[in-house]
Amino acid sequence: MSEVLKHSAPDPDGHSTPERQRADESRYPVADPGIEEHVPRLSDIDERAADRATRQVATMFGLVPILAIAFVVIYFAVPETATINLLALQTNAQHVGLGVTLGMAILLIGVAAVQWARQLMSDHEMTDTRHPANSPDEDRAAIMAGINEGIEESKVGRRKVLGYSMAGALGALGLPVIALLADLGPHPTKKVRAATIESTIWAEGVRLVNDVTYEPVKASDMVIGQLVNGQPENLHDLEGTEYLQARAKSSIIIVRMTPDRIKIPDSRKDWNVGGILCYSKICTHVGCPISLWEQQTHHLLCPCHQSTFDLADSGRVIFGPAARALPQLPITTDAEGYLVARGPFTVPVGPSYFERDSRNDFKEGEA
Ligand code: FES
Repeated sequence: MSEVLKHSAPDPDGHSTPERQRADESRYPVADPGIEEHVPRLSDIDERAADRATRQVATMFGLVPILAIAFVVIYFAVPETATINLLALQTNAQHVGLGVTLGMAILLIGVAAVQWARQLMSDHEMTDTRHPANSPDEDRAAIMAGINEGIEESKVGRRKVLGYSMAGALGALGLPVIALLADLGPHPTKKVRAATIESTIWAEGVRLVNDVTYEPVKASDMVIGQLVNGQPENLHDLEGTEYLQARAKSSIIIVRMTPDRIKIPDSRKDWNVGGILCYSKICTHVGCPISLWEQQTHHLLCPCHQSTFDLADSGRVIFGPAARALPQLPITTDAEGYLVARGPFTVPVGPSYFERDSRNDFKEGEA
């Protein structure tokens, strides 16, 4: 069967010639019927039908800019908290509005393109024969001629309104994209950075609490070799997004080592309490939380890309892609013996970024 199909293919013009049919009939039991005769559509023979199809396509493209503008208006005008009742479901009004307008705009572009292809573009069936992978110059010239013919047959040259309306529709879809850029947040000026990524809620006198039990950590309860994951006690004054953002930046680890095994620069002499030190938990490479603690070596290993920090040496990087030491939080104890911060982190926590000021970072060999 496959042999019959293979040999009864139409000629390069897509037609089964009488000679080929006779040859096929003499060699194969089933004659090749070839491609069916082309039946003209109404829009091929009636200019008014073609005009009607053109108007339909242009109208659909024309509605897209209106929907795109509606999307932007809804984005800014409908409060994020507004709700509507759809059937028995209460749902977010802004999300529904944005979804409907953008969805309709994309749907209209698709339907218009289908209508254009079905009613106005050429619908002559064509076949092509297999040829070597490399294209000779004549073939490339023929392809370009075919493309130009296709452009001509798409009527975009003669019915310019199709091209303009489609370009307008596709261009208008850029508006929702531009509007959504506002969700990337405020421009990171120096002031914005200082109030956001460069600060945490750590401040003088804030207690260090265990991040599971939320119990304050007492210096005398820490065992040598122990690591505790912690948070600032004032984190619980916050709610919602504010809480989550503060939590992500202010996470710490508290470790206790034998004091004489710690190398402490003069500038950090009073940052520890009898061998208890506190560091940011956020890796300075790309921000993974770290707590793989090697008790014997005092190394802290990041599970993401294996950056390793020496907590007995001011959080210095001893291996891996991180470029900066782990920021250290200066600590002391309060009147009841609980660990408290001496002040905020002296440098921004987390990964580096272009505008970051590195002047206060720990430098290797710092005395
Ligand atoms: S995030 Fe820690 S090594 Fe990459």
